[in-house]
Order: sequence, then C-alpha cells, then structure tokens
Amino acid sequence: MTTPRVIAVLNELLAAEGSNLLPYLANCTTFISWASADDVDLVQGMVDEEQEHLEWLVQLILDLRGSPGPRTGAIEAGSLHYVELHTLLPRIEQAETRVLARYEAAAGAVAGEPRAAALVSRIADRHRAHLDELRRLIQRHSHDKGSVAPTQPSGSSPGR
Ligand SMILES: [Fe+2]
Repeated sequence: MTTPRVIAVLNELLAAEGSNLLPYLANCTTFISWASADDVDLVQGMVDEEQEHLEWLVQLILDLRGSPGPRTGAIEAGSLHYVELHTLLPRIEQAETRVLARYEAAAGAVAGEPRAAALVSRIADRHRAHLDELRRLIQRHSHDKGSVAPTQPSGSSPGR
C-alpha cells in the first residue's frame, strides 16, 4: 500500500474518532447523577485515551508527510444531555462498536506500514477495553434500575 493510501486510511480513522460518542458521556448530567465516583473516573480515563488517539493519529499523519483532515464533532452529540441513561449508554456502546469496526477493517490496509499497523492495533485494543467497560456499566445500570429509582426531581437543572 502506498503512503498516500495509508495517510487516507489514517484520516478515515481520525474522522471515525470524531464521530465517537464516548467523550460526551463524561459531561452527561444523567450519567454523573447515577454513576459512582469510580465510574466517573473510569469514564474520564477512557475520554482521555480517546483524546490521545486523535493526537497519535494526527502525529503519524504528519510524520508520513500527510495533512490531517478537519476535526469534526459527532452530529448526534447535541441531544445527548437530554436522553435517559438507559438509551444513552447503548447508543454510546454502538458508536464505540462502529469505531472499533473501522480499526479492524483498517488493520489489513495499513499492514505494510509498520508504524501505522502498530498504531491501529494499539488503538483497537483500547477501544475493545472501552467496550468491555461500557458493557459492564450497561449491565450494572440495568440491575440498578430495579432497585434504585432513577427519576430526577422535576425542577432540577440539567446543569452547564
Ligand atoms: Fe474507545
């Protein structure tokens, strides 16, 4: 595979990272009101890792003398603060699954460029770990719903 093609694939992954929804969970008021401090720390750790993925992709694209594509946010993200956690968490899991699938599809395409192959593999491993954590959160939330009333006071502010 030619270097321009590797750069194009890395830019596709950069765009895929931009469409991910996980970073929005850290600021989601319904999540923060439900989650334990450990959960909030866990999610913040994952969000920090997602930010590193963007930085690593941009750096490698530059190292290969390419031009990183424009940063874009997830179109879906605007409404995330206002949806219930039981619908939000699965949507975030689906978005994370889509991003991981993009990395898995890209692995073969960048196999001839060792730095790109290593980066794609490393980030894919992280997204797999993120998915495991998200599924644990979803599982626990579905259990908690039965015993803990998740209703919010009607007069509460959504914050920020
Ligand atoms: Fe991730």
